Amino acid sequence: MKKSAPWYHTTSIYHIYPRSYKDSNGDGIGDIQGIIQKLDYIRDLGFESIWSSPFFASPQADFGYDVADFTSISPEFGSMDDALQLIDEVHKRGMRMIFDLILNHTSDQHAWFKESRSSRDNSRANWYIWRDKPNNWNSMTGGNGWHFAKERGQYYWSSFLPFQPDLNWRNPDVKKAMFDIIRFWLGKGVDGFRLDIFNTIYKDAEFRNNPFTFKLAPTPDDPSGYFQKAKFSQDQPESFELAKELRQVCEEFGDTLTVGEITAKRNIVRKFAGEEKNDGLTLAFDFEMLEFKFTAGYFRRLISDIETHFPPPFMPVYVFSNLDKRRSIHRLGNDMRKAKLLHMLQLTVRGVPCMYYGEEIGMTNLHLPFKTALDPIPHKYTFAPRFVFDLLNVTVNRDEVRTPMQWDSTKHAGFSSAEQTWLPVHPEYGNINVASENLDSASLLNTIRSLMRLRRENPALQTGTLEFLEGLPDEVFGYTRKTETETLLVLLNFGETAKEVRLKFSETAYKLSVGDEAQGESARLNGFGGLILVG
Ligand code: NOJ
Ligand code: CA
Repeated sequence: MKKSAPWYHTTSIYHIYPRSYKDSNGDGIGDIQGIIQKLDYIRDLGFESIWSSPFFASPQADFGYDVADFTSISPEFGSMDDALQLIDEVHKRGMRMIFDLILNHTSDQHAWFKESRSSRDNSRANWYIWRDKPNNWNSMTGGNGWHFAKERGQYYWSSFLPFQPDLNWRNPDVKKAMFDIIRFWLGKGVDGFRLDIFNTIYKDAEFRNNPFTFKLAPTPDDPSGYFQKAKFSQDQPESFELAKELRQVCEEFGDTLTVGEITAKRNIVRKFAGEEKNDGLTLAFDFEMLEFKFTAGYFRRLISDIETHFPPPFMPVYVFSNLDKRRSIHRLGNDMRKAKLLHMLQLTVRGVPCMYYGEEIGMTNLHLPFKTALDPIPHKYTFAPRFVFDLLNVTVNRDEVRTPMQWDSTKHAGFSSAEQTWLPVHPEYGNINVASENLDSASLLNTIRSLMRLRRENPALQTGTLEFLEGLPDEVFGYTRKTETETLLVLLNFGETAKEVRLKFSETAYKLSVGDEAQGESARLNGFGGLILVG
């Protein structure tokens, strides 16, 4: 691979849910000034880019994913000056700022939608998707996605929740308005965008009915579900083209990171990244890995398939937690040893790592009842008993993965001085918090810090080739990362018992371990241990 890999392919991303990161003014809600207070922490952790979930003006019915004005800031998060200061402070620390952009829909409180729904012949009448009669399409959250507006006597389409009407991208005025928003923020110094449900933006021009399928629930590699294939409501060819056009707009401002939220099979995701060459979105998330299994075989298959679909110059993203799904540590039975190994893989494999706030300390999900959820989604599912979803391992109440960041063992985990925080702080914050993990050299936090340092200091981990090592013991997965001048070896033991691995390397070449020893020509990998060596 060329040495001059673009920054967006060598970076590492730290994902903040702003409502829960740090409350600077004691109202119980995290805010932009709170993020600014914690930028040194993120820089010292070693991340190069920060993606914040949205803080634009919004009625907060879906906590910011329902935008009422894309170029102003919601007062509970701060002001435009705060947002500009954030961009500036991030840059001062040598990091990049990535905003969250929702191109597919707005809030129903957006002035555009209010006008659009008011009559059939206003100046924005065609800015959203209006039909006299609904077709059979289901929304992504289940149930009919068409909603009646009596002012027009027509139905509007929403891919997600009813208060998030989809914009009509076939209208050139809409496209221009949205591209201008991108230009607005790039002009203010933003370095890139995470693109919300990017694959739903275009729908079939003729609104053909979606075909039947026996599939009950959407899966990470296929949005079809609720007995319907998402054939005509998602992944349309015009959306692949849009990815390229958007790339052009972004490049008016230089190298810009774009990372798509695309729930689809990898061959489809590839189309969004640019089918032939990487001239579409610069990056895309892979949602299958959010449901990873902690075995050597699983990761070998996963990485092999990812490498097949996204060979250089494409670059995959490795993400194990986000704002919608259970935190990765939940899949690891809350075992910190496993978490260290998982992140050793994430930070040494060929790809851009993306970590969700709190993942670095092993923050766990908080079990919360559906009935009192602030998240709108669980209210759609109160008819079914909770244990059904738990059995299926499905996250319905997203409040559970959005609780306040655990900074220390003081009141509200140091997140806020308010009487009450917007969501409760996880009661185990006394044990799991940044301050106490800082003091423990073997903590998950310090392991991640060391791994991040290694990643920055060794270009092979960012741009090197990736090759699997063969002939390793059961449950051990290993690979090399190589540039012309450097070779690193990574050995990961997914098993509970210790393993001996015979390899040639020099003793001084030992780089970093998770509870392991390396000497002479063999390495001993303890249970769930990992080693990084110079080959
Ligand atoms: C995906 C986001 O991650 C989720 O939190 C949001 O509710 C939907 N898109 C709708 O914008
Ligand atoms: Ca606040």
